[in-house]
Amino acid sequence: MITAPEIVLGVTGSIGAYKSADLVRNLKDAGYAVTCVMTERATRFLAPWTLQALSERRVHVDLFEADSTRIPHMNLADHARLVLVAPATANIIGKLANGLADDLLSCVLLATRAKILIAPAMNVHMWQHPTVQRNVQTLKRLGVRFVAPDVGKLACGYEAIGHLAEPEDIVKAVRQLVPVPTISGMGTPAKPASRPSKSSSKARKR
Ligand SMILES: Cc1cc2nc3c(=O)[nH]c(=O)nc-3n(C[C@H](O)[C@H](O)[C@H](O)COP(=O)(O)O)c2cc1C
Repeated sequence: MITAPEIVLGVTGSIGAYKSADLVRNLKDAGYAVTCVMTERATRFLAPWTLQALSERRVHVDLFEADSTRIPHMNLADHARLVLVAPATANIIGKLANGLADDLLSCVLLATRAKILIAPAMNVHMWQHPTVQRNVQTLKRLGVRFVAPDVGKLACGYEAIGHLAEPEDIVKAVRQLVPVPTISGMGTPAKPASRPSKSSSKARKR
């Protein structure tokens, strides 16, 4: 059986958080298994339930999850093939570049040995701020990959760079870093482990 590669999707407190719903769907359709980690601030923009329903997995927010048998950030960090942060705020980029870990997502980012891919989204002046650019350069030097923000209409009214890249472009970047295994010769992507196939659900009914 081919197992779908595990992606941890970090979602942070940006207006662009609504796009993470499409991103989860696109990643699953591409053959990935997705577990979402939201920052507290991200939950002000998008209800965790939305990502839970689309990913078909529990959404993690709390560093001190009471009902976990393993330390949650280590569990997530160890199982990920890729940690993707989309949208990524100036704040999470700054925290990772400076080794800060004060919530679940920032702990996962420091604890993982998996590849990290970041898709920033923010106001153009924030994006162009020398400290943000310095943090981005620091992370690039450390091997963190980026999907650059697009030029687009920003929530603040500017038509400028800072718009979260489109979900299709983010999935393309994910595929380059973690290809989905295919059933040889058929080009059929692996199914996420959590989604039962039609044949297995039929088998259970019998
Ligand atoms: C309406 C609104 C939209 C925001 N959009 C962004 C954004 O797109 N990018 C960003 O870096 N910060 C944005 N912020 C600021 C972040 O929410 C803030 O820096 C927060 O502390 C980020 O926390 P987190 O990185 O833990 O999610 C926005 C704030 C508000 C109130």
